[in-house]
Amino acid sequence: MGESITVTDNRTGASTEIPIEFGGVSAAEFSKLLPGVWFYDPGFTTTAACESAITFVDGDEGILRYRGYPIEQLAEKSTYLEVAYLLLYGELPTTDQFDVWQRDITYHTFIHENVRKRFLEGFHYDAHPMGMLVSAVAALSTFYADAKEIDNPVVLDRQIVRLIAKMPTLAAAAHRFSVGMPFVYPDNELSYTENFLSMMWKVAEPHYEADPALSRALEVLFILHADHEQNCGTTAMRVAASAHADPYSATAAAAAALYGPRHGGANEAAIKMLTEIGSIEAVPAFVEQVKQGHGRLQGFGHRVYKSYDPRATIVKRAAYDVFEVTGKNPLIDIALKLEETALSDPYFIDRKLYPNIDFYTGLIYQAMGFPMEMFTVLFAIPRTVGWLAHFKELLDQDLKIARPRQLYIGADTRDYVAMPQR
Ligand code: ACO
Repeated sequence: MGESITVTDNRTGASTEIPIEFGGVSAAEFSKLLPGVWFYDPGFTTTAACESAITFVDGDEGILRYRGYPIEQLAEKSTYLEVAYLLLYGELPTTDQFDVWQRDITYHTFIHENVRKRFLEGFHYDAHPMGMLVSAVAALSTFYADAKEIDNPVVLDRQIVRLIAKMPTLAAAAHRFSVGMPFVYPDNELSYTENFLSMMWKVAEPHYEADPALSRALEVLFILHADHEQNCGTTAMRVAASAHADPYSATAAAAAALYGPRHGGANEAAIKMLTEIGSIEAVPAFVEQVKQGHGRLQGFGHRVYKSYDPRATIVKRAAYDVFEVTGKNPLIDIALKLEETALSDPYFIDRKLYPNIDFYTGLIYQAMGFPMEMFTVLFAIPRTVGWLAHFKELLDQDLKIARPRQLYIGADTRDYVAMPQR
């Protein structure tokens, strides 16, 4: 046997040799020798929960590939909808396949009037758009009675098209409601990102035309955010999907996880941090504070990347393309100084903490005029396709329901005490 480990059960003397494959060992092989013995692994730091052929990440080398294609090539040459097709179906589409795909997505961008009137407009005037999005996506499942037919691939693909198509519409609707602006209907003449920008910013003009540099920058950001293998949101998606929840409810579960500041909420937190720092001169003192345990550098560090996040490199470049149109976001200078200071400091070097994708994305969104509350929404729109690619893959693999064990640390058995005696 090549690389392997030998496990001996000292209670019985029995031992087994387990191969190390792709850097891991199979828990099922352990279980053969040690039935009933389980692994304690909070945060799943050493647990692979599935096989997946969608996205490859090498955190030490800073590599990210979708279906084998390097993220750098896709960001430079592809479009979001082409990448979406690639993630879902495993191959880049032919011209004919792409035409059908683009048409399908374009023609499903409208939402039922009641989704807007009954759900979105039912929120309080200052509701967070991400909270509105999570709820509206879950509500969609009640509008499509066939959503539960996840065993039927044709029906499932229909829900996938609906979700990808309607996400920008729901997102823009949530924003317009929160600023008291009327809802803008989708425009079938526009590309995916142009249409989203139109639904966000259109005022009285008959036809909104986005600046091509801005719609391309958004396209690149959507490509970069489309998938990232088994992150927190995708794990939430897979857990819900393993119970055979419908795709809308499972997407809502994933979006809820993304909402957290340790995950997709970090871009918002990064802008708040840069604003709070306020000047280049204040950077060293801020970094010192962080080193002493007062907070964290937002947009820094990653569970998987222990080198520069390859997406952050692309986003940093895209920021300058956007600033040529919008003017420079003054926070970029503080961000650059912060990065330089951290990357030359042993605290961050020793812990392998580098900027992640969220460090620079907020600067772009802010320069493009998006309010901070929309930053995580801008992450959820493109990530929807990644979640759905995992949903499809999980169903094809016919996996068991996700149901981890626990290490019980609570009270031992005790008798109920009536309230007056407590
Ligand atoms: N700033 C300062 N110190 C940090 C940071 C940070 N951003 N991130 C980790 N550390 C330190 C921790 O304090 C810890 O130090 P210690 O060993 O002295 O206790 C060490 O690095 C390891 O930290 P963990 O929390 O164990 O690392 P983990 O892999 O669990 O966390 C996470 C990863 C959550 C991303 C973390 O780096 C973090 O909180 N970053 C800031 C939030 C952020 O940017 N999130 C976006 C992630 S990317 C995404 O979701 C799209």
